[in-house]
Amino acid sequence: MNPIKIGLIGNGSISESHLHAYQANPKVKLWAVCDLNEERARRTAEKSDYHELLANSEVQAVSICTWNNSHAEISIAALEADKNVLCEKPLCKTVDEALKVEEAVRKTGKMLQVGYVRRHASNIAVLKKFIDAGDLGDIYFAKASMIRRLGNPGGWFSDKDRSGGGPLIDIGVHVIDLCWYLMGKPKVKSVSGNTYSKLGNRSNIENYDFYQAADYDATRNDVEDMANALVRFENGASLLVDVSFSLHAKQDSAQVNLYGSKGGAEVEPKLSIVTEQHNTMINIEPQITQPAFDFQGSFQNEINHFVDSCLGIIETNSPVEDGVEMIKILNAIYQSAAEGREIQF
Ligand SMILES: NC(=O)c1ccc[n+]([C@@H]2O[C@H](COP(=O)([O-])OP(=O)(O)OC[C@H]3O[C@@H](n4cnc5c(N)ncnc54)[C@H](O)[C@@H]3O)[C@@H](O)[C@H]2O)c1
Repeated sequence: MNPIKIGLIGNGSISESHLHAYQANPKVKLWAVCDLNEERARRTAEKSDYHELLANSEVQAVSICTWNNSHAEISIAALEADKNVLCEKPLCKTVDEALKVEEAVRKTGKMLQVGYVRRHASNIAVLKKFIDAGDLGDIYFAKASMIRRLGNPGGWFSDKDRSGGGPLIDIGVHVIDLCWYLMGKPKVKSVSGNTYSKLGNRSNIENYDFYQAADYDATRNDVEDMANALVRFENGASLLVDVSFSLHAKQDSAQVNLYGSKGGAEVEPKLSIVTEQHNTMINIEPQITQPAFDFQGSFQNEINHFVDSCLGIIETNSPVEDGVEMIKILNAIYQSAAEGREIQF
């Protein structure tokens, strides 16, 4: 089999995880890399204009690892240039953009996979087997939480024009999607949300390290500090969300919890399953090599999944529709917070 030729657009932080994973996949030949940052393009990438990369007919598929504001534009251009697309999360910033990307997938007949890397964690594959076998029963409640007490990365992350928002669209998207996926992608009925910008980026804090974007700028920040929401589904299930970049919390924390009629599951900090047997409550601790989210291992699984989907061996588990639905949920939370009312779907 001839290797599939891959192009990568946006050669910043997360692209490293894509590049390593492609390099480790024997079905792939990495063909071209581009970044609009001239210095970065000179140092590591070959081109600065993504149009040039897309004009190369050898390239069969691309990873899009740019800021959120260009995901829709580049995805549509890539699909129209006859490439399959792996687009980093979130699919884009607005519902209007999301629908245009979906339309481009439909018109071109190409495939777009959304970069929901957490779906590809090996502990999630284990949990999915339990869920699909009915061991949790009817999942009627889930909790998606990702709290950073001090973790606004600055740079493009805190510039709403480029990011589309703060912790909700950046880290909330991971945990909300994971819950929604594991709940069986129920149809949303309504969303009620709140956002707060009370603490800012807390760049005054001393003696405490946190991740900063390459172009960190403490003076620029127009995204929310924290968001919370209640999502109601048509099947009666509900999802509770809370996420933050800055919060007076005692520690950072993450929760992806599912509660069903026969059992429950907690994914963070490591997979455990809860059930009842012979009138006794049981906590099950699956004995697996990676009981927690394994960052690079999950990227490897995601890229392998994308490559096999491009080759027609499997069908992607993260199609464009799942990107559109998530943008609808995220935007409804922002709209609900802005208007102070529940948004009906
Ligand atoms: N899946 C994950 O766990 C995960 C983690 C981090 C980031 N991300 C996503 O990856 C994307 C990039 O994030 P990052 O942290 O790598 O940011 P980054 O700033 O480190 O890298 C983005 C790169 O894209 C380049 N770029 C921007 N617009 C471009 C364009 N139009 N054409 C070519 N290059 C362009 C920038 O110059 C930069 O080098 C974001 O969408 C983010 O949400 C995903």
